[in-house]
Amino acid sequence: SKRFNSWKCKRIMSSIIEFAKKTLINNRRSNYTLPTNTKLYPAQWNWDSAFIALGYSNFNLDYSFKEIETLISGQWDDGMIPHILFHIKDLNYTPNYKAWNCGRKISSSGITQPPILASILRIIIERKKFSKEEIKKYQTLILKIKKYLEWFIRYRDPKRTGLISILHPWESGYDNSPLWDKPMSKIKIESKLKYKRKDNKIVEKSQRPLKIDYDRYVTIKNHLRRLNYDPKKLYYKSKFNVVDVGFNSLFLKALKDLDFLLKFIGKSSSSLKKYILLNESKLIKLFNSKKMKFKNKDLKNDTSIEIPSITNFFMLFSDLKNKSVNKNLIKSLKKYCKNENYLFPSINSRHKSFEEKRYWRGPVWINCNWIIYQGLKNKDKSFAEMIRKKTINLVEKKKFREYYSCKSGLGMGAKNFSWSAALYLDFVLNRS
Ligand code: DGY
Repeated sequence: SKRFNSWKCKRIMSSIIEFAKKTLINNRRSNYTLPTNTKLYPAQWNWDSAFIALGYSNFNLDYSFKEIETLISGQWDDGMIPHILFHIKDLNYTPNYKAWNCGRKISSSGITQPPILASILRIIIERKKFSKEEIKKYQTLILKIKKYLEWFIRYRDPKRTGLISILHPWESGYDNSPLWDKPMSKIKIESKLKYKRKDNKIVEKSQRPLKIDYDRYVTIKNHLRRLNYDPKKLYYKSKFNVVDVGFNSLFLKALKDLDFLLKFIGKSSSSLKKYILLNESKLIKLFNSKKMKFKNKDLKNDTSIEIPSITNFFMLFSDLKNKSVNKNLIKSLKKYCKNENYLFPSINSRHKSFEEKRYWRGPVWINCNWIIYQGLKNKDKSFAEMIRKKTINLVEKKKFREYYSCKSGLGMGAKNFSWSAALYLDFVLNRS
């Protein structure tokens, strides 16, 4: 009967694999993929797209590269790849392409998102073991990613402090995280603000950000638009300017992966290599190994932020050279998720800001699990394997939802969520 059970398990798993592929294909439009088919996000999102491309690479390499090429086709002349590309003029999203009014060839938002694309491209290329001839095809993509990462250094760290700023909570991807509560509370909401939310009509209100959050998101966005999204001005003038541990960790890893990709096409950049060292040494200082606490810097208000967020542990993903820091990070992560039924809550459930069901204030997100898993697999194999298995189990039980309760496993937010399907595929089909 043991053999029968394992046969049954495999059958179930292979049908879920098919369902994951179908979910991606159903969400696919012309050469790019929506984050979900529920009307919640009717456009191409930057980091969603990178995760989706990784998912495709497990069964359709052509779709994978189309996804990446379409995302990069939205790159601005200055190098930024926007956080949203509005390929269809859909007015059902707020703020829509008119509200952003970016004045570019492809309508887009005027801000960016974590540049996980560099890391995803490296994984795809490494796994496929391309020949020298095939490698040439990727040269242009790699050089455009280089321009993107250099844009961050030039405009998001103009004083070369070694740390990159984000200028809107949406740039982090973890929009309403308690990480931003303090800097957001300082933002005076624009008078006569006019916008109409659609998101909380599609997904239950209690699972989405609050009105006061949206008032501030739109206020910051309008201000950036009035500055014509001029990257030289935004760093100094935005109403929000934060150095975030999670974002910088993803950025550092992106730089390291770009360095690898450049080597791959027979190129290198000494200024990038220098910035990698600088960024790594500054990033480590944001983690206090003794107190096991992380510190974000609110540059706008010259103060610090200490919130126990899973995104702080993205530091494991950046593959720091310092072994003792890594050891302490792992110890701290084990404490972070002790007693949790489902991993990982986006905010430590013992913290006062934790909310079980509200978007980035507590729920489990599959992309966070994937990032942490990637960071752990070469440092603590058994812990990494436990996360892989728990994530697979959760998704198999509750299907491809946008996020899940860490207490009950309840699936929440959008259904048929692309990155949950894509990363499920990646978890199941790849052990490394
Ligand atoms: C949203 O609309 O909630 C997105 O997360 C913004 O990028």
